[in-house]
Amino acid sequence: MDYFVIEGPTPLDGDVRVAGAKNAVLPLMAAALLCRGESVITNVPDLRDTRFFLDLLRELGVAGELGAGTLRLETASGVRSVTAPYDIVRKMRASIYVLGPLLAACGEARVSKPGGCAWGPRPVDLHVAGLAALGAEMSEEHGYIVARAPGGLRGGRYRFEPVSVGATCNVLMAAALARGETTLENCACEPEVVQLGEALVGAGARVEGLGTRTLHIQGVDELQPLRCAVIPDRIEAGTFLAAVAVAGGRIRLAGCRLDHVAPILGVLRDLGCEIRAEGDLLVAERSGPLRPVKVETEPFPGFPTDMQAQVMAAAALADGVSFITDTIYPDRFTHAAELERLGANIEVKNGTATVIGVAALQGAPVMATDLRASAALVLAGIAARGRTEVRRVYHIDRGYERIEERLAALGARIERVAG
Ligand code: UD1
Repeated sequence: MDYFVIEGPTPLDGDVRVAGAKNAVLPLMAAALLCRGESVITNVPDLRDTRFFLDLLRELGVAGELGAGTLRLETASGVRSVTAPYDIVRKMRASIYVLGPLLAACGEARVSKPGGCAWGPRPVDLHVAGLAALGAEMSEEHGYIVARAPGGLRGGRYRFEPVSVGATCNVLMAAALARGETTLENCACEPEVVQLGEALVGAGARVEGLGTRTLHIQGVDELQPLRCAVIPDRIEAGTFLAAVAVAGGRIRLAGCRLDHVAPILGVLRDLGCEIRAEGDLLVAERSGPLRPVKVETEPFPGFPTDMQAQVMAAAALADGVSFITDTIYPDRFTHAAELERLGANIEVKNGTATVIGVAALQGAPVMATDLRASAALVLAGIAARGRTEVRRVYHIDRGYERIEERLAALGARIERVAG
């Protein structure tokens, strides 16, 4: 298994371009199952998760090719299988996104239950209940979620509680081809949900209310192929900005959407970063001390759970005590113990991490446990004195394209070692 070797501390300096969003491209790929013909999606990041999802779609009978950032998905010959098997789903929870589209397009779907993940339970009950509200018969058989709608789906009404990105996307996709009108309440308004909705509308779906908590969907008989460009990855942008917070220095970020990263910028400024827009670029700088912060993750437009770990790496070096609460996933703190191996002082209790800032971190071997946790460890390693080894970087490859090369181009001393 590959690992990263990092020699720190090094401040960052230079330019970096933000890639297309992992969390946007996966639901778009699932949506191609609803469309007949060749869907073309551009600005696609070449990630392990994108490749995994392509494998899943091929398993279902979709012909797909990813090259030079363009993904072509051909569904003309129809879906061959309605089963997302355990061996693929266990590698990638986002496989659950095919449940709604397969059901709507084929009248049947079988998706292996995703189970928990490294930081605790991640239920899918809202996906199931939302599809049941569209008339599907839902059951569980031998570890699989089985959905059937022999006569087709019909419009319905459903309220998500709590707000869920995944369930909103899944039920929205199914409702696009259901007979009649669907009303979905307390929907997620994350940019990735809006992108999915807009792509569906571009393909002929009738969706109103995108970006608000209530969606009205008037089902249509068929959808044209998708044509869209993936939005920039707001979490990747936030990760590079957080890298400047942790390591100090100055970077210029190209290609990010200010309205998407706004909830992240507030926290980074509180930490002591200066961030300003210069034309199309976002310039971020930190030269003074890091200040402690109080952060709570919330659904968009709140601070994202996907940035909590990276901000913790910065808080570890702040001049005072920070409080970081994850209201979306209260157990998502596996990075805290690894950051402590680098000398951080963190106590986690009842969904809140109390981070007592230290003057410096020290390099050590650490283990990546999930995607964003690994990003936090890499950032901390860049700021730590001496050599840090980050093991199990396959987690980070799931969601960041060649992160070590891009950080090295900003001055970090980081390299990948094949292992
Ligand atoms: C969440 C994040 C998303 C992030 C992703 C990966 C939010 C609202 N969503 O999306 O931005 O990219 O993690 O880190 O911040 N829930 C249920 N039943 C369900 C589905 C969800 O109870 O069927 C709960 C979850 O336990 C969680 C909340 O709803 O507390 C939000 O989950 P959801 O948005 O679905 O999670 P992801 O789609 O994984």
